[in-house]
Amino acid sequence: MTPLTQNLFVIFITSCFIFNIFYFLPLTARPKNLHLRKTYAMQHQDLVQISETHGSPIYVYDAHAMEAQYNRLTNAFSAVPQLRINYAVKALSNLSVLKWMHHLGAGLDTVSIQEVQLGLEAGVPPKEIIFTPNGVSLSEIEEVATLGVQINIDNLSVLEQFGTAHPTVPVCIRINPHIMAGGNANISVGHIDSKFGISIHQMPHVLRIVENTSMNINGVHMHTGSDILDIDVFLHAAEILFDTARQFKDLEFLDFGSGFKVPYKPGDNETNIEELGEKLSVRFNAFCADYGKELVLAFEPGKFLVSQAGYFLTSVNSVKQTTSTVFAQVNSGFNHLIRPMLYGAQHRIENISNPEGRERFYSVVGYICETDTFANNRKIAEISDGDVLCFHNAGAYCFTMASNYNSRYRPAEVLWHNGESHLIRQAESFDDLVKNQVVMAFDAVEV
Ligand SMILES: Cc1ncc(COP(=O)(O)O)c(C=O)c1O
Repeated sequence: MTPLTQNLFVIFITSCFIFNIFYFLPLTARPKNLHLRKTYAMQHQDLVQISETHGSPIYVYDAHAMEAQYNRLTNAFSAVPQLRINYAVKALSNLSVLKWMHHLGAGLDTVSIQEVQLGLEAGVPPKEIIFTPNGVSLSEIEEVATLGVQINIDNLSVLEQFGTAHPTVPVCIRINPHIMAGGNANISVGHIDSKFGISIHQMPHVLRIVENTSMNINGVHMHTGSDILDIDVFLHAAEILFDTARQFKDLEFLDFGSGFKVPYKPGDNETNIEELGEKLSVRFNAFCADYGKELVLAFEPGKFLVSQAGYFLTSVNSVKQTTSTVFAQVNSGFNHLIRPMLYGAQHRIENISNPEGRERFYSVVGYICETDTFANNRKIAEISDGDVLCFHNAGAYCFTMASNYNSRYRPAEVLWHNGESHLIRQAESFDDLVKNQVVMAFDAVEV
């Protein structure tokens, strides 16, 4: 190249980037999920700003962190021709979050008719919603079916009653593969003593019901637990699902549930999604070839999509030195974040008011009238009264598990999107505490 052509080449390449010329390439010519727009990852300062604007306690969610996880999962399974991600609404059910998930391409996994209604309210078509209840009434399942939502049944008796009454409605079957998996007993749901799913040993009975009712089984599903680290557990369970699926001739999808473990602190272990994607895709595609039909591979992650996208901001009411411990007492409790008490979850806690401060040991506790310890003997940058503490991984199962215990209000929620914070739920007020109460007038009652 002459110096002149070299210069022209450099100018051409530079202008390509400046004017985003690559953006106009057809999608197939671009690397998948490469967004050539500004990235808007949340910064530390944004959290401080949000706590100043809206006060605390408050939940903050980063829409772009959810998007990154969604893309990570779809990329990991890019070798599967038909992939379906149904976001588990129970993890975080704010309407704006449901809309965002649908905007990204996800359907919804629901467990109650109210979650279905929230999904519909958010604009998600019924065909993109799956209903996976446990222990609900037959009438609730029938009501959801009339909305056009995919039904998933995990109980023999319900299967028989539903199939007899509605033989033309397609139904998915949730199996129990008898696998002990999950980070905690409360979230291990695929073992032999679990109330979930139809035992794989009851398949002959299932097949009899299907034959007698002529019902249409269009999917097979399992979910063995949450916080599963070992990908061999997923792969082993997948083989059980394949064995079950072979017994049904008209399937459209196989649903592998969820349970991916996410990291809770720097250096923490997580499910290796990329390796799982590579290995499971090969097995799934081979199964489809054998089955003679290209099926949809479905997942229904909650935690994986929203856990790390969430922050819970609280303010320190007081730093209390006792004979043995230094307590940092925050303006919240297990009424807002119950995971540490329920599952022993260790949420990372950061002092965002003094991030560079010298680290000291604290027990971080709430204001509830019972012991509500968020963290014991935790190293945190020096805390003073009024500082804002940020709890990480507060996207999944935090707001949705919040309550009014001690007659406290549930906090506001903010969604960070395109470099701006948006209030997506107002904090409750006294009116919310009393609005459904019917107050008796004792004065009028004669004793
Ligand atoms: C049936 C089912 N699907 C999906 C999920 C979501 O699991 P996770 O949040 O671990 O992704 C759950 C969690 O309880 C579940 O019970």
